Amino acid sequence: MAVDILLGLQWGDEGKGKIVDVLAPTYDMVARFQGGPNAGHTLEFEGTKHVLHQIPSGIFHPHIQNVIGNGVVLDPIVFQIEMQKLQDRGVDAAKNLFISKKAALILPSHKVLDRVSEEALGSGKIGSTLKGIGPTYQDKIGRVGLRVGDILAPDFKDRYNKLVDRHRKMVEFYGQTLEIAEQEQQFFAALEYLRTLKLADTEYLINEALQSGKRILAEGAQGSLLDIDFGTYPFVTSSTTMVAGACTGLGVAPKYIGEVYGIFKAYCTRVGSGPFPTELLNEEGEAIRQAGREFGSTTGRPRRCGWVDLPTLKYSIMLNGVTQLNMMKADVLTDFDTIKVCTHYRLPNGDITDQLPHSLEAGELEPVYEELPGWRVDLNKIDLVDELPEAFKNYLSFIESHLHAPITIVSVGPDRKSTLKREAEKV
Ligand code: GDP
Ligand code: IMO
Ligand code: MG
Repeated sequence: MAVDILLGLQWGDEGKGKIVDVLAPTYDMVARFQGGPNAGHTLEFEGTKHVLHQIPSGIFHPHIQNVIGNGVVLDPIVFQIEMQKLQDRGVDAAKNLFISKKAALILPSHKVLDRVSEEALGSGKIGSTLKGIGPTYQDKIGRVGLRVGDILAPDFKDRYNKLVDRHRKMVEFYGQTLEIAEQEQQFFAALEYLRTLKLADTEYLINEALQSGKRILAEGAQGSLLDIDFGTYPFVTSSTTMVAGACTGLGVAPKYIGEVYGIFKAYCTRVGSGPFPTELLNEEGEAIRQAGREFGSTTGRPRRCGWVDLPTLKYSIMLNGVTQLNMMKADVLTDFDTIKVCTHYRLPNGDITDQLPHSLEAGELEPVYEELPGWRVDLNKIDLVDELPEAFKNYLSFIESHLHAPITIVSVGPDRKSTLKREAEKV
């Protein structure tokens, strides 16, 4: 059996949580492999909306084992709150949740470091979610970080103090003082809770599941354009958001990778700073934001909105080996007479290309658009693929013909049920 991977092809918030939840019934295990509480994955069913930050989106299906993999950075405080919320809604999350002992721990001081380093960047700030992601991954790569398994060691407190001393000096370097007494109390209480859960060498759990023929779905966080290597650096997150991240973030050999589901919106959004070639800074962008309720699931910030950008999608598809595409939120574009699609970029020397230049900043390229007729039909009211309006079918075919991958899922609303599955056509 193989590990299938579902990941975002844009700048995050494509609708990963929704589709993991839709696909989950056909899987035995759902695993998160990177990121942490910077993620906000929304699921809607039976009239209720759930937002998950660190817990995999398979958690609502009682037969599924859910894994927080070694590549994740875990904030015990946020995690405990999330678990409590699930319990309040009658979900016994602890029963089917396994947490890697190798996952990195986010300390209260990491969150302070995130804030002070962002403040120091001034107008060049990344627009981080301030959840401590960057500083925690820095400590991991710098080989000084603490991991979930360490909380079981008798000398954990000493190691914690040593790391916090280091952070204190770093905060002072930024001209500020580290004051975290209250958060520390919460942190240690949350660790008490964490110790009662299933902390495991999840790489064994996953490989044993693979060998016994179980079906595993790896759930990406963020999106390919936020990847530390291939994203719009430095305006990226600090992890490998691509397929390769699932191998290192779960302990799965590349030969076991199966389907790769690439999710994208019928348009494009970004939250935080950084280049965004097709961004609409006009009333059209505002119309998308309102119709799509484009406000961050984690921070509530308004998301920047623009037209779909095929060169970036081609890039993400190439680097991830995407086998199936899922188009999300097409219902949001109902009110547009024409829909624009960026097919190429025009470079400063006049060349036209569908490849990404080193920088996506405004002065480095100009999007080249094709205009397609809008469909002017509320797609959310449609239950069968065959009933989709012709103009929308043309939009799908146009995109498939450029991306050379089949769009097998079309999502037309936030609810689990607003999902249309298409036969994979040859493209
Ligand atoms: P994720 O981080 O990739 O899981 O995505 P988010 O949950 O942050 O953002 C996606 C938002 O769009 C959520 O509010 C979803 O409920 C919503 N959503 C998902 N699919 C659709 C869709 O097809 N149509 C509409 N209108 N909303 C959707
Ligand atoms: P999901 O999984 C959208 C963005 C932040 C910022 C940059 C770095 O819900 O799609 P970080 O806190 O990681 O240091 O922030 O990345 N970002 C996201 N944008 N969706 C996310 O996750 C994101 N996680 C981080 O806004 O620009
Ligand atoms: Mg999100």
